[in-house]
Amino acid sequence: MTEARQADGPASFNCLWCGRPHQPRGSDDLEIYARLCPDCVGRAQDNEFLRFRLREGLRLRAEASRARHADDNAAMRAYYSARADEYDEAYSGPGLAPLERAVFQADLDTVTLWLDRLPMGGEIVELAAGTGWWSPLLAQKGELWLYDVSEEVLERARRRLVAHGLRAHIHLRDAWAEPDREVDGLFAGFWLSHVRGERLAEFGALARRWLKPGGMFAFIDEAPGPDYTPIDDGLQLRRLSDGRQFSIPKAYHSPDELLASLRGAGFSEVEASTTTRYFVHGQARVAQAQDEEAR
Ligand SMILES: C[S@@+](CC[C@H](N)C(=O)[O-])C[C@H]1O[C@@H](n2cnc3c(N)ncnc32)[C@H](O)[C@@H]1O
Repeated sequence: MTEARQADGPASFNCLWCGRPHQPRGSDDLEIYARLCPDCVGRAQDNEFLRFRLREGLRLRAEASRARHADDNAAMRAYYSARADEYDEAYSGPGLAPLERAVFQADLDTVTLWLDRLPMGGEIVELAAGTGWWSPLLAQKGELWLYDVSEEVLERARRRLVAHGLRAHIHLRDAWAEPDREVDGLFAGFWLSHVRGERLAEFGALARRWLKPGGMFAFIDEAPGPDYTPIDDGLQLRRLSDGRQFSIPKAYHSPDELLASLRGAGFSEVEASTTTRYFVHGQARVAQAQDEEAR
C-alpha cells in the first residue's frame, strides 16, 4: 500500500517533419518516440518518411516498455523484500488522523467481509501474495497456492498460515509468468495498482488464462482519491523506516478502468466498486463452456 503521490510532465520537442513544437500529454505518447507532432502522425499514410518514423516510434516504444518492465520488476522485488518486516503496518492506516483511521479501518472491514463471503473454492492461486494478509481467508475456501517474487515476504506468509493452523503451497513465481495450469479461483491483493495502465489489458488477459470455465478472479486494491491525477512516469517514491528509498510503479485504477480491462479480456459477470474512501474491490467470472456456446 501507499505513501506519496506526485506529478511532472514530459518535455516538449520540435516535430522532425514540420518543425513545429509539440508538448506531449503523457510520457508514453507514440509522438515522443516518432519525434513527430500529432498532425504529421495523422498524415503518415501519405508519406514515406513519416511512415518510417512511425514504425521506428512503435519499435522504440515497445523496446522502452520492455526495459521499463524489467526495471519495475527489479525495483518491486528489492523494495518489498526490504519492506517485509514493516509491510503489515500499512494495514493499520499509518499517518492518518484518528477519524480518518476509523474510516480506513471500516473500509478494511468492508473488503475483508466481502472477500470472506465471496463464493470461491477449489484450487485457488494468489498472485503477489506478499506477507499473506489475505491468505488465511483464501486458505479456508479451497486449496491455496501462494506466489510472490520475494522470499522475505513469503516467509512471513508461511508463518501467518502456520499461526492460523492452515496450509498452502508457497512458491516463488512472477505474477507476469504464463499460467502453468487452469484453476478455479485467482486472487490479487494490492497488485493491480502496481500494474501500469498500459499493461492492465495484458494482465487482464493473463488472469483470464489462469482460470477454468466458471472460474473467478477477485481483487482488492487502493482506490484513486477524488483529486487523483496519474503520476506521469508512473513511479512513486517509497521510504523505509531506516531511510532507504525506492521508486516503484504505482497507478490507482478506477473501477471503470478495471471493469473495462476485465471485460476486454473476455470475463463476464464483472463487478467493481469502491468502499467509502480507501479501497476498490471486484470480481469477474470466466463464462461456463455452455454459456460461451450460447453467445
Ligand atoms: C503491495 S504488496 C501486496 C501484498 C499482498 N498481496 C497484500 O495484499 O497485502 C505487492 C507484492 O507484490 C510482490 N511483487 C512485486 N513484483 C512482483 C512480480 N513481478 N510477481 C509477483 N509478485 C511481485 C511484492 O513482493 C509484494 O509482496
